Amino acid sequence: MIQINGLTKIYKLNAKKMQELKTKENKKVAVNNVSLEAKPGEIFGLLGPNGAGKTTTLRCVATLLKPTKGSVSVCGFDTQKEGQKVRDSIAFLTNEIKLDPNFSADYMFKFFGRLHGMSEEQIVARQEELFGVFGINDFKNKKIEELSTGMKQKAAIAVSLVHDPKVVIFDEPTSGLDIVTARSVTDYLKHLRDIGKTVIVSTHIMSEAEKLSDRIGVIIAGQKVEEGTLAEILQRNEAVDLEDAFFKLYSKYNPEKN
Ligand SMILES: Nc1ncnc2c1ncn2[C@@H]1O[C@H](COP(=O)(O)OP(=O)(O)O)[C@@H](O)[C@H]1O
Ligand SMILES: [Mg+2]
Repeated sequence: MIQINGLTKIYKLNAKKMQELKTKENKKVAVNNVSLEAKPGEIFGLLGPNGAGKTTTLRCVATLLKPTKGSVSVCGFDTQKEGQKVRDSIAFLTNEIKLDPNFSADYMFKFFGRLHGMSEEQIVARQEELFGVFGINDFKNKKIEELSTGMKQKAAIAVSLVHDPKVVIFDEPTSGLDIVTARSVTDYLKHLRDIGKTVIVSTHIMSEAEKLSDRIGVIIAGQKVEEGTLAEILQRNEAVDLEDAFFKLYSKYNPEKN
């Protein structure tokens, strides 16, 4: 279970970042009073365009960022007061954190298994399952730097799941993957949902949110502007599909519109 209550994250901007974001303000409200809940046995899809605040939200859930305001709990543990318990309960995957390119998938998997306090037998059993599912055995002893984007992503996913956590937080897990690899990732996420895990996935791809999520939260310019099942969102926005609903929401909430 993930509970996000009134989460706000404001970044302080240095001169370079101000220039990058083309702003004269020295702070940026990346996430603005977002509340949401993801439950066991459900895939919650966080859908939003680039810069909407998806990664920032998920980093707060994963204890990597401290909220400016509001609170987040995972499996009942507060991310700020019980960070270690939260980290023990989650798999976190994001493009900003990469496996060390100098080591192999096999080494990294075992390394993180030990870090999580697992026994060698537990690690081996888990490795058999996950490396099997993702077809990693063929390249498990190659250095990460020698692997293709898809192989790297599969290895990163397997490593993130080594300790069989209750909660899975994947930030744009299929971005940059070919369609076959992307499918193996989304299929496995559905499997995790079906065995009762809490899954939250961010994406900017409408069709992915549509097909994968049991419930969808739409985030635009740091604010959650819609939430519900696909059917609920389509009905409320009188839309034929999610893309249609999204553009209706975008024209309503995008602050840069004239
Ligand atoms: N470390 C940071 N410092 C300053 N601004 C940031 C930082 N990280 C992200 N931002 C800004 O916060 C906003 C939300 O970013 P992010 O959470 O990465 O969005 P998304 O993942 O939806 O693309 C963007 O405007 C981004 O430029
Ligand atoms: Mg992002």
